[in-house]
Amino acid sequence: MAEDAAHILNGPNLNLLGAREPAIYGTTTLAEIEAACREKAESLGLSLVFRQSNSEGELIDWVQTARAEAAGLIINPGAYTHTSIALLDALSAVDIPVIELHLSNIHARETFRRHSVTAAAASGVIMGLGAAGYPLALDALKRIINKGRA
Ligand code: DQA
Repeated sequence: MAEDAAHILNGPNLNLLGAREPAIYGTTTLAEIEAACREKAESLGLSLVFRQSNSEGELIDWVQTARAEAAGLIINPGAYTHTSIALLDALSAVDIPVIELHLSNIHARETFRRHSVTAAAASGVIMGLGAAGYPLALDALKRIINKGRA
C-alpha cells in the first residue's frame, strides 16, 4: 500500500527563515526545518511534500493539489493568515485534516496579527513553539489521520 502523503506549505517570506527577524522567528533555516520534517515523516510512515511560495495564487494551487493528493495538510500561511479570504476558501474546500502552524505566538504580537482569517478552516493550530512546531504538527496530523480511520 502506498504511504499516506503529508503536504506542508509555507507562505511568504518563510524562505528567509534563519536570517529574517531571528529574535521572533529563530535561527533555524527553512531547509533545516524541511530536513527535520523529512526525518519525522519517515518515522511516522508518511511521505512528504514540502513547499514554500511568496505568491498567494501558487499557495492556493498547492492547497488544491493537497486536496486531491494528500492525506493531510500543514500550512504556515505567513502574512496571508491575516488577510486571505481566497486562501480560507481554498482550505474550506479541503476535506482532509488541516493544521495551521505559526513559529511565533501571533496572539502575543501586534494587534493586526492576532486574528487568523484562515484558522477557521483548520482542525487545529500550533503556534509559538518555533521550528519545533513543524515535527509536532506532523505528529498531530498523523494522529488525526489515524483517528479518522478508526
Ligand atoms: C508567521 C506569523 C505571521 O504573522 C507572519 O506574517 C509570518 C510568520 C509565523 O510563523 O509566526 O510571516 O506565520
